[in-house]
Amino acid sequence: MKVEIYKDKNEGGQAAFNIIKSGIENGAKVLGLATGSTPITLYNAMTSSDLDFSNMTSVNLDEYVGLPFDNDQSYHYFMKDNLFNKKPFKMSYVPDGMAADINAAAKEYDQIIEDNPIDVQILGIGRNGHIGFNEPGSAFDSLTHEVDLTQSTIDANARFFANEDDVPHKAISMGIGSILKSKKILLLAYGEDKADAIKATIEGPVTTDVPASALQNHDDVIFILDEAAASKL
Ligand code: GLP
Repeated sequence: MKVEIYKDKNEGGQAAFNIIKSGIENGAKVLGLATGSTPITLYNAMTSSDLDFSNMTSVNLDEYVGLPFDNDQSYHYFMKDNLFNKKPFKMSYVPDGMAADINAAAKEYDQIIEDNPIDVQILGIGRNGHIGFNEPGSAFDSLTHEVDLTQSTIDANARFFANEDDVPHKAISMGIGSILKSKKILLLAYGEDKADAIKATIEGPVTTDVPASALQNHDDVIFILDEAAASKL
């Protein structure tokens, strides 16, 4: 594991961009992408660059269940708005949270990952250490699956919705096992409210209580942090 500490999220986003850029120069064809506020500075660096992604494939981590793709809180919408509208990929996959059969959609998504092995996976982290929507207790060998969101995640997301009742309680997420198959993983975390999760992830025991601690078992992980997120290390 490598830990890189930057002044702020803008420098962190630029550092993540540089790693992706050199990955592409060295033949990376598939990017694993994340949502949330954290990757936005990276996506800004990507959209303002002269890099071309039209020969590449992207595979997103997760999506809410039951939220139409044109809802501005859906991850389909977020990805179009922050990246794909400005920098289209040859093919972009986001889990289908509107599928009539979520289990079947999850199986299909695992096949997509199998067919498009992820060269560089971007991750954010939840305050409880979740990655994707793999909440504490998730098995480290889990593949794509339907998830019941914890109350703390529902509460954290409530600020984005007009009404708390509108916040989805379920999601479809790549599993920790799916994430660990990626060749290289960049976990980005900014701000003091991520400091406890980062400490537990990097310095704590490997435990399903802290889903991101599974990354200690992967041989090519880079943590890109700002000083606040790194402040408890
Ligand atoms: C959601 C997403 C995660 C993300 C997390 C943190 O739960 N499913 O992928 O890492 O939020 O979000 P933020 O980056 O806004 O702090």
